[in-house]
Amino acid sequence: KTNSIRSEATAVSSDNVETLEGVDWDNFGFGLRPTDAMYVMKCEHDGHWGKGELKPFGNLELSPSAAVLNYGQGLFEGMKAYRTVDGRILLFRPEENALRMINGADRLSMPALPVDAFVNAVKQTVIANKRWIPPPGKGSLYIRPLLIGSGAVLGLAPAPEYTFLIYVSPVGNYFKGGLAPIDLKVDNYYHRAAPGGTGGVKTIGNYAPVLKTQLLAKGKGYSDVLYLDAVENKYVEEVSSCNIFIIKDGRIHTPELRGTILPGITRKSIIELARNLKYEVEERPVSVDELLEADEVFCTGTAVVVNPVGSVTYNDKRVKYKNAGLGGVAQELYTALTDIQTGKAEDRLNWVVQ
Ligand code: COI
Repeated sequence: KTNSIRSEATAVSSDNVETLEGVDWDNFGFGLRPTDAMYVMKCEHDGHWGKGELKPFGNLELSPSAAVLNYGQGLFEGMKAYRTVDGRILLFRPEENALRMINGADRLSMPALPVDAFVNAVKQTVIANKRWIPPPGKGSLYIRPLLIGSGAVLGLAPAPEYTFLIYVSPVGNYFKGGLAPIDLKVDNYYHRAAPGGTGGVKTIGNYAPVLKTQLLAKGKGYSDVLYLDAVENKYVEEVSSCNIFIIKDGRIHTPELRGTILPGITRKSIIELARNLKYEVEERPVSVDELLEADEVFCTGTAVVVNPVGSVTYNDKRVKYKNAGLGGVAQELYTALTDIQTGKAEDRLNWVVQ
């Protein structure tokens, strides 16, 4: 390892790849569009994984008493593949997703795939679906690895069988309105995670509970919900599906990882990238008061990428950020990040591995 940021993107394939014709790549939002193939691998006995295989994308057959259905023993990941202008296909730090899944599997008492096997499976799945990777500049192929307790249980116990699978879908922007600034509602009643809980791993169980508050907020015209810490109800944690950053007097601040916040790979990359661009970045508790006094606020995530926040509402107070949108730091970091992800950036710091 060197001190510079390395391996930001990994080349998957450089053979002749054709994109599907007749698809309206300009009007993709973030929704499922079934593709050709999915990857399936099973762990039948004592943590030994069988041979993985590519199958046509389709429904799974599960026992009604599968551990994932009954007790939520499941993890997911989110990654993206991009097509470059010179016809390559790039993945962004896939080994980071593998490591996060290993960590989550430990928390949920599941066997995990080694990093190499995970990355290899991702590459195979992307290549099998390569005609679904949008043309350069028109979105990405979202990759969704899952690890689930597929074996049957009744008493509360780890499943006797696990399934690792990967499916993909071409996607465009996550929020309605593209990269336009979003309006967040700070929730001061419901919490996303508590100390000692599972907020710091990507378990499926972290996501259904945010739907209620998200739907309520959306019904009132907000884009999404920002959660506070469960102990003091005072510190900013994360949005339903992304991490949060604030900027004050040219310095960038983001809540530190204390086990209640998802360690986003985009979060980590933006911290590294911003420091590389000579910004000061601090990971520390960020209070809701600081949020309201910030000059600029933005969110990061695989699905979301980097999205400016236009306003935040806390109780009855609404603060609009004057620097949201074009010309802000979020815009600069978005461009810097996506230029690397899409292979457009000059490889001056040797960040891209092919
Ligand atoms: C991602 O950004 O990939 C996520 O996992 C968030 C998801 C809720 C769309």
